[in-house]
Amino acid sequence: MLYLIGLGLSYKSDITVRGLEAVKQCSRVYLEHYTSILMAASQEELEQFYGKTVILADRELVESGSDEILRDADREDVAFLVVGDPFGATTHTDLVLRAKKAGIAVETIHNASVMNAVGACGLQLYNFGQTISMVFFTDSWKPDSWYDKIWENRKIGLHTLVLLDIKVKEQSIENMARGRLIYEPPRYMSISQCCEQLLEIEEKRHDQAYTPDTPAVAISRLGSASQTFKSGTIRELAEYDCGEPLHSLVILGRQCHELELEYLLEFAEDREKFRTDVSKDQQFFKPAPWVPPQQDADED
Ligand SMILES: C[S@@+](CC[C@H](N)C(=O)[O-])C[C@H]1O[C@@H](n2cnc3c(N)ncnc32)[C@H](O)[C@@H]1O
Repeated sequence: MLYLIGLGLSYKSDITVRGLEAVKQCSRVYLEHYTSILMAASQEELEQFYGKTVILADRELVESGSDEILRDADREDVAFLVVGDPFGATTHTDLVLRAKKAGIAVETIHNASVMNAVGACGLQLYNFGQTISMVFFTDSWKPDSWYDKIWENRKIGLHTLVLLDIKVKEQSIENMARGRLIYEPPRYMSISQCCEQLLEIEEKRHDQAYTPDTPAVAISRLGSASQTFKSGTIRELAEYDCGEPLHSLVILGRQCHELELEYLLEFAEDREKFRTDVSKDQQFFKPAPWVPPQQDADED
């Protein structure tokens, strides 16, 4: 059996009881180690907690070396651990399809994900549209296909969850070109860098999917002891020091329910300013008021 097991958001003990029982009976335990990190537990702490060796699975192993992960899984139990939920934001459907093709049974044990825990900021999950990912820009690579998705979401009033790039095992271009297996230190995108990139693309596209004054909420270290929220405009959050990873951002939709706003005001530096910013932003997309057509003079 291949078990896909969600670890939850932060602590080693966030794993479910059923997940822990499954890990304990597995002969090999892999930890997916490129899309997220377990903030409050190291590999060694997990190994102690499970009483098992934990093998770190980087992107290459999962995408190109899945035969190794699936080896003998038709006769033994193998665990594939994913921070958050195995199907939250990162889909591991490819691994599941390969397992099924090889006749290996698969069982998923779910857990909390950033995709649902984001509701802790006070915005209702029902009011979210398409989620987007913001990658680290380079001088020559600034992908912006996410811009249209924000536009679509905001047009129909929905909030946009922005997931921020992380690079846990990256080679420099030079090391890659020379075939040297030397990796750069891990990098995690900050809220301020994400907001700067948002502003850079709005300046280039100018379609006003959002503006520097559009309200947003910065979400840091969800589910950990230092979980923090900060409400502000995109321009203000571009100056915000968000601390240790992990981080996400939500760009508000044009409809913000009074209860949602009340919750967000708790995280604003200047409550009145934030209330005004939200109200101004909502006006932007509102259709022009309906005016009855002028009656033709002949019709009188
Ligand atoms: C590709 S997603 C993986 C999601 C994970 N499988 C889950 O279900 O939560 C990783 C990104 O989600 C966001 N994220 C994940 N956990 C978070 C947390 N606890 N607090 C804030 N953002 C988080 C960060 O932007 C991070 O780079």
